[in-house]
Amino acid sequence: MPDSYESETLLRQYLDFHYRSQEPDYLPHHPLPAGVVGYPERCAAKLIGHSEHFGSALDLGCAVGGSSFALAREFHQVLGIDFSASFIRAANQLAAKGQFRSSEHIYTPSSEPRKNPPRFQTGDACHLPDDLGSFDAVLMANLLCRLPDPAACLEQLKKITRPGSVLLFTTPCSWDEAFTPRDKWLWPTLEGLHQHLNPWCTNLEVLEMPFVLRDHERRAQFTVAQASVWKVS
Ligand SMILES: C[S@@+](CC[C@H](N)C(=O)[O-])C[C@H]1O[C@@H](n2cnc3c(N)ncnc32)[C@H](O)[C@@H]1O
Repeated sequence: MPDSYESETLLRQYLDFHYRSQEPDYLPHHPLPAGVVGYPERCAAKLIGHSEHFGSALDLGCAVGGSSFALAREFHQVLGIDFSASFIRAANQLAAKGQFRSSEHIYTPSSEPRKNPPRFQTGDACHLPDDLGSFDAVLMANLLCRLPDPAACLEQLKKITRPGSVLLFTTPCSWDEAFTPRDKWLWPTLEGLHQHLNPWCTNLEVLEMPFVLRDHERRAQFTVAQASVWKVS
């Protein structure tokens, strides 16, 4: 359930994942598998690499905003939206003060925005406000299989994109009835995406994106997310 993203433990886990996963003490007792560090930055870089217009980007399910800060290196306006009030509080503090202090760490975004710092607000990806405007790029990193109605969320993207907009979905495809009723699962995920995105989007690329999400310095989850990039026709 979305409420599970409000705990102190999850806040620390996502701050570490977004702002410390490139540091040697992220998982200090064992080498990390190849290619896992900097997941939020890699998601942003993939979206940037496929984009032609750099007016505005939306990071839906942004958590504490790591990808939003990376997108702000190229996009003039970046908006991060997340259900979790505590994640958005931390992201707003990072944008306003350039850092977020916990009892253990001072977290800082890894790069300066090219123009404007990202903006962050709470919101529900399945019920986006009508006045959100439209975006040149939309990132949904590891969000789809946490939504009660992923197809409804995809349908709303039609209202907030335009021809040429680029979309990036990454997902561990961990469909679970705790989050999504079984009849709403996009399964197999890529086929589900094709079913809901064709014909208004064209698939540009499908790739594997590994990452490690640390519980603490001796335990972590290794995941290989399936990523797909789409362009609005
Ligand atoms: C698995 S995390 C992924 C976070 C981030 N995109 C990343 O890749 O690290 C899922 C995120 O989606 C948010 N979320 C869950 N349901 C949501 C909803 N209905 N609307 C907006 N955000 C939601 C959670 O609060 C959490 O931050």
